[in-house]
Parts: sequence; C-alpha cells; structure tokens
Amino acid sequence: MNKAKTIALRERALAVTPLGVNSNFRYWGAETPYVKKAKGCRLWDVDGDEFIEYRMAFGPIILGHAYDEVDQKVISEIKEGVLFAMTGELEIEVEEMMIDMIPGLESVRLACSGTEATMHAVRIARAYTGRELILKFEGNYHGLNDHLLWSTYAPAEAYGNARSPIAIAGSSGIPESMGNLVVTLPFNDSEAFERAMYVYGNSIAAVFTEPCQGNCGAMLPEPGFLELVQSKCREYGALFILDEVKTGFRIHNGGARAYYKIKPDLMTYAKAMGNGYPIAALGGRRDIMEIIGHGVSQGGTYTNNKPGVAGAWATLKLLKEKPILKTIEKRGKRLMQGLDEILTEAGLVHCMNGYPAMFSYALGIERTRNQRDWNQSDKALYLEIAAEMYKRGVMPDNDAREPWFLSYSHQDADIDKTLEAFRESVKAVKK
Ligand SMILES: Cc1ncc(COP(=O)(O)O)c(C=O)c1O
Repeated sequence: MNKAKTIALRERALAVTPLGVNSNFRYWGAETPYVKKAKGCRLWDVDGDEFIEYRMAFGPIILGHAYDEVDQKVISEIKEGVLFAMTGELEIEVEEMMIDMIPGLESVRLACSGTEATMHAVRIARAYTGRELILKFEGNYHGLNDHLLWSTYAPAEAYGNARSPIAIAGSSGIPESMGNLVVTLPFNDSEAFERAMYVYGNSIAAVFTEPCQGNCGAMLPEPGFLELVQSKCREYGALFILDEVKTGFRIHNGGARAYYKIKPDLMTYAKAMGNGYPIAALGGRRDIMEIIGHGVSQGGTYTNNKPGVAGAWATLKLLKEKPILKTIEKRGKRLMQGLDEILTEAGLVHCMNGYPAMFSYALGIERTRNQRDWNQSDKALYLEIAAEMYKRGVMPDNDAREPWFLSYSHQDADIDKTLEAFRESVKAVKK
C-alpha cells in the first residue's frame, strides 16, 4: 500500500500535538493511521484505502458511521442553536427514553464523556455513603480520572498476589496518595472479593465494575460474580456501580443491567448512546441521585450540548423502534463462530470472549477469567494477524485488549468478507 499521505500527515501532526494524536489510545507507533472519512461499517484512510472496520470509534458507532437518520436530526436541531446554559425539551425526552428503556433507572443526569460520568459517580457515591474507598477490578477501565485510573493494565507480576493486590497507577501524575483510596482486585475472583469486603467493606463507598472486561479482551463475568458483588455491596452498605459505557445500548436496550437482571445502585453510560455524538449519562436510584444539588456538585457547560443530545435522541428512538441490537447479535454470532472455527482449523489454541456485539479472542490460552490470565495470552500473534487483516481491507484494533465492535451497518456480506480475510491472514501468519 502506498501510504504517502499518511506519512506526510503524521509528520505534520507530530509537529503540533504529542504523538501526533489527540488521545494516547490512537497512537499505533510508526503505523499510526489517519482517517479521511467513514460511512456505514467502512472507513477510508487519508490514502484512500478502504476497510471494513470493527473499531467503531471504540464502541460508540452502534448504527453505523454517518447514519443518515441520526445526522439529519442533529443537523435540524443545531440550526436552532447548540448551547444555551438552559434546559430544553429534547434533553428531557432523552432522559425519559432512557428511563423507559433501562429497568431501575429512576433518575439520570447527562454528561459529555464516559470519564466525566464515572468521575461524577465517584463523587456521588462518596457523598451518599460518607465513605472514601473505591473498589475496582484489574483490567477494567473507567476513564482517565485520577480516582479510577488504577490497575488498568500492568504485567501480571506487578499486581502482586491476588490475596493482597498492588494498585498500580495508570499514569504518572496521579498522586500516590490517591492509591490509599482505591482497592483493586482480579475480576471474577469471588474468593478475593469476599475477603476484601470482609476487610474493607465498611469503609467502601462503591464497588465499580464493568459488566465484562470490556477494556481487556471482553472476558465475561462468571455466573454469579456480578450477583455476588451486588449482595456484598448490600451487606456492607457500599454502592454497586455498573459502568455501562461500553455495554449500554450495545448488548441490550437496557444494558448489562437488564441482560443479567441485576440491580446496581448507579450506572454510567456514554458511547452507543449517541452513535458517535458526544453524550454520556449517570443515573440509578432516585434517593441516591437526589443528593445532587443538595450540597453535591454535578454539572458542566456542555452537559446538554445539542449535537450530543440530538444524537442520543435519534439513536435511542431507533433502538426502541427497531430490533437493531437483535440483528447485530445475530450477525455478530456468525462472525464469532466463524473466527472460532478458522482458529480451530488452523490448530491455534485460543478462547473466544465477549458478546456478539462486542467480542474478542485470546491466543495461546484456553481460558481467561481476568487480566492476570489474559496477560499470558499471545498478544504478538494477535497483532500479526491484525496486521495481515489490514492488508486485506479489514480493521480490528491493533491493541488486543480492545474488543471487536459490530454495528447495524455490518451486513452479512461484510461478515463473509471479514471471515475470508481472517482465513487468509491466519494462513499467512502460520507460514
Ligand atoms: C467502561 C468504560 N468506562 C469509561 C470510559 C471512558 O469513556 P470516555 O472515553 O468517553 O471518557 C470508557 C472508555 O473506553 C470505558 O470503556
């Protein structure tokens, strides 16, 4: 492939912004791609090379890129102003739709990004319980705020023993003292969780978790794990906060909360809620949410920005009216099964993880329950296959932790092409 334009743009970008990107997660080293445009499930880079893509902006694009019905609503709404520091009917309708779709969502506030939603949820939990400790699981990512950016990714040895894990800051610049406010544990380890609750339970404001390890290979919760988290939270008076930023409006209209029939106290949303427009939310039990405004701060200049609100309005309306997630699930299942068969036929040890709308596979390992296991998988081989796929016009992420995301625009024919490219890529790598 001739990447002259990519190389030239990368040089310009490096001159004006660190790593040549506006988020560390978009940096692929010398292979960092630069995008021209996208439509449906296809993306074109600045050199005009076309890809069927499975990154979908790290999950937000649930309907497809440049989805006409959503974009038209946004365009018509922004012609009447984008920001007012005043509340309008459209945002109330978005909140009404959310409450209608999500069981147990009694009261909700909007935000602009997942990081913001989880940051506010931490504040609310601490204010409501009068406690300061937050318990989170290794490999779960809840955004870039200093409270939660702990043990997102580290080599297994750095985490220490599962009986007494070491919390690892996800960045320089996070005050070491904040580590005193966080307890980290391996996901899916019920014994470690029960022990930690026995020790710290009465000081814990909230247990934060993604329903699955959506930022580390999409490993699912083992049966009973989320229920255990819920029951121990109730027992010790800690809040159970489910971070649905990746799963919300993707695996079920009611999110993982409805999918698993569990009852977290608070939930956070973003991503698929707006098909790419900047919108997020946090909400749950009314008695908890109602401390906002009574000595508890939450807000922001852009929390009801019109593009985000209109994007969410149109996306949620479509999700409510059409069997969109069921369709994605059907196609995703076929894709997952196809990849699984190809890896098996090639004799590559692997395990498939996740939901059809958001899945991954780990190589060189038969079972992964949490990041400690996943760290032992063959990431280099995963990346070699991904690199072969790019040559064949298919783009999963080049970070093995990041799941493959499907959208409503991925048609059966796209799945067929993807499977063909995958078969060829695995063959090339095996050679
Ligand atoms: C589960 C989860 N929570 C929070 C976030 C942070 O969201 P944002 O990138 O919108 O700040 C992410 C982002 O990937 C996420 O996956």
